[in-house]
Amino acid sequence: MDTIVIEGQHDLKGSVHIGGAKNAALPILVSSLLSDGWNTYTNVPDLKDIQSIIALLNQLGAQTEVEQDCVGINASGLNVFEAPYDLVRKMRASILVLGPLVARLKKARVSLPGGCAIGARPINLHLKGLKQLGATIELEHGYVEASADRLRGADIYFDVVSVTGTENLMMAAVLADGVTVLRNAAREPEVVALAEVLTQMGAQIEGAGTAVMTIKGVSSLSPVTVKIIPDRIETGTFMVAAALTGGDITILDCEPEHLGAVVHKLQSTGTTIDIQDQSMRVRGSGEIKSVDIKTLAYPGFPTDMQAQFMVLMSIASGTSVISETIFENRFIHVSELRRMGADITVSGNTATVRGVGKLSGAPVMATDLRASASLILAGLAAEGTTAVSRVYHLDRGYEKIEDKFSHLGAAIKRVK
Ligand code: EPZ
Repeated sequence: MDTIVIEGQHDLKGSVHIGGAKNAALPILVSSLLSDGWNTYTNVPDLKDIQSIIALLNQLGAQTEVEQDCVGINASGLNVFEAPYDLVRKMRASILVLGPLVARLKKARVSLPGGCAIGARPINLHLKGLKQLGATIELEHGYVEASADRLRGADIYFDVVSVTGTENLMMAAVLADGVTVLRNAAREPEVVALAEVLTQMGAQIEGAGTAVMTIKGVSSLSPVTVKIIPDRIETGTFMVAAALTGGDITILDCEPEHLGAVVHKLQSTGTTIDIQDQSMRVRGSGEIKSVDIKTLAYPGFPTDMQAQFMVLMSIASGTSVISETIFENRFIHVSELRRMGADITVSGNTATVRGVGKLSGAPVMATDLRASASLILAGLAAEGTTAVSRVYHLDRGYEKIEDKFSHLGAAIKRVK
């Protein structure tokens, strides 16, 4: 298992290119199952999770070709309706094949994704919506077995906003008979990006990006060529890095529009942010002001930026209250940050962060994707050496992050 070693307190200066969004690429690559013929996707990030979803699509009978950031997928040969445990357990987003498989093959057998470090992450809303669309759902031996002769449009309400729940049901509904309404739908940019791809394929979708989406089923969809949108969480991670180290980073190929809440909160800490069309220049100030954050579904402050922001608050000048309302166990990074000198107390889904003068480098362990990013950030700001182990978590969602930080002047290296 690799370890990333960082000598902290180096100024970060220069520019960094943002890659394609993992959480847009995953559902968009899966949407290839809904068409016959070659779909071409560009600006696809080179990540473990992307390799996992391509392996699964191959397993289902799709042809795939990968050349750098370009992925081709042809699902004409789709003939397997089972997504096995050994693939699904590696990446829970594999559950996204459920809707398309029922829509195309009229049945699916997908391993139930286990929980993960940050929470139980049930899929009850995915299954409830599929039932409303006319599918028969059985749960046995750790698998979901779904079947439907014909999916019929339905009026579906999400008790909780669910990103992949919305995406799964969108992909089932586009080929269903009649009209489907998704109420309390997720509004994340990645959901909108999927809706745009499905529309390019011939789907009829209204209201993407709002809480009520209307989908009029069509008989078939055609393959497309699309570019994946920039990763807003990778962007936010580099924004926090600039704020944390008093650096001056120009972030290129990003979409500032997707980061409204993060921009607002960082500006409240005293960070200077100059926004251009597809880039942002972020400069840290001498004093970091403490601000409170509450994670919410988009356009609220993203839960995937909570751990990164907590590192910034740990060396701010006051006290910050951080409420995590999306996942029930997303403070795992707190104990590791404490070992680096942070003063954080947790009560339920609220963390109180009292700013300390500085963090001190230490050996720490990554536990989930965004927690590992926060430990890298802490190492960049800390005095002395930090060694982050189990960075395979990091590789799921960040492409060559140590190269990108090294290019900005950080003393960082990966040790096999
Ligand atoms: C997506 O996960 C993202 N993953 C997550 O990013 C992100 O943290 C999350 O959305 C929230 O924004 C992908 O897009 C691949 P949810 P998802 O369904 O869809 C509850 C990362 O770091 N819920 O929106 O699994 C659930 O327990 C990852 O890239 C139900 O109760 O999240 C949670 O409390 C981590 N029943 C809340 O909804 C359901 O059927 C939001 O979950 C579904 C969800």
